[in-house]
Amino acid sequence: MRLPAPRGPITALLFDHLPTGPHALPPAPPAGPDDPFQDEDLQLALFACYEIHYRGFDNVPETWEWHPSLIAFRTRLEDRFERRLGVLVPPRVGVTDVPGALARLVEAAGGPSLATFVQREATLEQFREFVRHRSIYQLKEADPHSWAIPRLSGPAKAALVEIQADEYGGGRPELMHAELFRTTMRGLGLDDTYGAYLDVVPAITLAVNNLMSFFGLHRRRIGALVGHLAAFEMTSSQPNRRYSAGLARLGADRTTRRFYDEHVQADAVHEQLAAHDLAGRLAAQRPELAADVIFGAASCLAVERLFAEHLLACWSAGSSSLRSGRTAVRAPAAG
Ligand SMILES: [Fe+2]
Ligand SMILES: [Fe+2]
Repeated sequence: MRLPAPRGPITALLFDHLPTGPHALPPAPPAGPDDPFQDEDLQLALFACYEIHYRGFDNVPETWEWHPSLIAFRTRLEDRFERRLGVLVPPRVGVTDVPGALARLVEAAGGPSLATFVQREATLEQFREFVRHRSIYQLKEADPHSWAIPRLSGPAKAALVEIQADEYGGGRPELMHAELFRTTMRGLGLDDTYGAYLDVVPAITLAVNNLMSFFGLHRRRIGALVGHLAAFEMTSSQPNRRYSAGLARLGADRTTRRFYDEHVQADAVHEQLAAHDLAGRLAAQRPELAADVIFGAASCLAVERLFAEHLLACWSAGSSSLRSGRTAVRAPAAG
């Protein structure tokens, strides 16, 4: 994957510097007026900084990864992201029964049901849009939560590895969930290359991904990362049943639907593992993390809700939920 097109002064500056070897970067330009979760420039810059810790970009030297100047640049972006997250999701206090609190949180999660719409009403083109959004995560499915493995110990670590082993196909590459998703993409006539749709996904789709990477790349947020995974798994089985039903309604074959069918089964198990064996045991082992586990779960639900609202609002207005592609860029702000 090569660097995407810049979307404003922050990405214009960053993408101008990254292709040359590591050197001192100017500070990140000041934030624009947009809500950070809707700020195309901020979310893309943060996504690019994080991607350097995953597969990277073909035109960015790997030696940038731990360069202090890039870490400092990223930290300024993360401060904005984390401050906004703290407003969107109030901090939790006095959490004791973590599995019970997770269950109540998921039960109370409101918002429009993207899965119900996709099952009953989405057109084939809307389903293909949905898959392009999700490809940003699904082609590296499970990787952000794997950052937790070396940071856990004992029963919680064993539970996480059990979940991740399924996500990675249990030793069979063709069963890796990312590979199953590639099959779905091909079945829908989409490009299954990693990062193929990065230029067309909007800020909120990048924010969904940045949230996981933010929790994953900061050991201080291990509780939130575990809570995020728990909420993710606890809200997966039924929606995936609906996505598969929607694809069947649209005429897709079993091979194309397999990714979703697999998750109906797998995530009914992962839900229990994540809530009880992972999050519950982590909180029993380290009670001081309980509140952050619930914060991470609430963050997952809140950002997924913004994502669903974006897609449904665009579709109800008769427009695409994707960006039109490479766009003009404002000049970097002075200083
Ligand atoms: Fe999965
Ligand atoms: Fe899962």
